[in-house]
Amino acid sequence: MEFYDVVQKRHSVRDFSDKPVEAIKIKNIINAAMRAPSAGNLQAYKIYLVHSQETREALLPATDYQEFIVNVPLVLVFVADHMISESKYGARGFELYSVQDATIAATYAQLAATAEGVSSVWVGAFDPLEVSRILHLMGYQVPVAILAIGYPNGPIKSTTRRPIKDMVKEI
Ligand SMILES: Cc1cc2nc3c(=O)[nH]c(=O)nc-3n(C[C@H](O)[C@H](O)[C@H](O)COP(=O)(O)O)c2cc1C
Repeated sequence: MEFYDVVQKRHSVRDFSDKPVEAIKIKNIINAAMRAPSAGNLQAYKIYLVHSQETREALLPATDYQEFIVNVPLVLVFVADHMISESKYGARGFELYSVQDATIAATYAQLAATAEGVSSVWVGAFDPLEVSRILHLMGYQVPVAILAIGYPNGPIKSTTRRPIKDMVKEI
């Protein structure tokens, strides 16, 4: 799919069919995420691919009871690794770069999912401490984004955007 088609066609979906996402598509999505830029090319994040039904059920209360998390075929959790960035960039790496690295990777993964013809939703409403406990993360790891990815169970709705004059300031 052409890049701007991908951008136009990406819409959040919150109702998924149980059709699994093909292994080759998952591989392509992960590979795209890993092509994202990162500070110093350190790739200060890890992607958790959650297969376990038990883990998904544990994630349900941790994600504000957003029900699709249990049934969606693919759940990716993008986890920043503060320690990797801090080792090269100190406080700015710790606070910012690792979080940005993980966020950009998640963005690439979401666009790649669209390019692969699958739908997704970005989940930011979660309790980071609870998600860390469920995924057995270390203290220097922080979950920053969850992507639920799968085939839609109905029509896809598009959303509007604020006017460009509110979003861009020319100076
Ligand atoms: C940082 C962030 C957090 C979000 N958290 C959630 C969430 O917890 N649950 C949800 O259903 N959608 C969530 N979304 C999706 C947004 O609601 C959605 O992107 C927005 O309404 C625009 O719609 P669109 O993605 O279809 O263009 C989140 C998106 C972002 C970028």
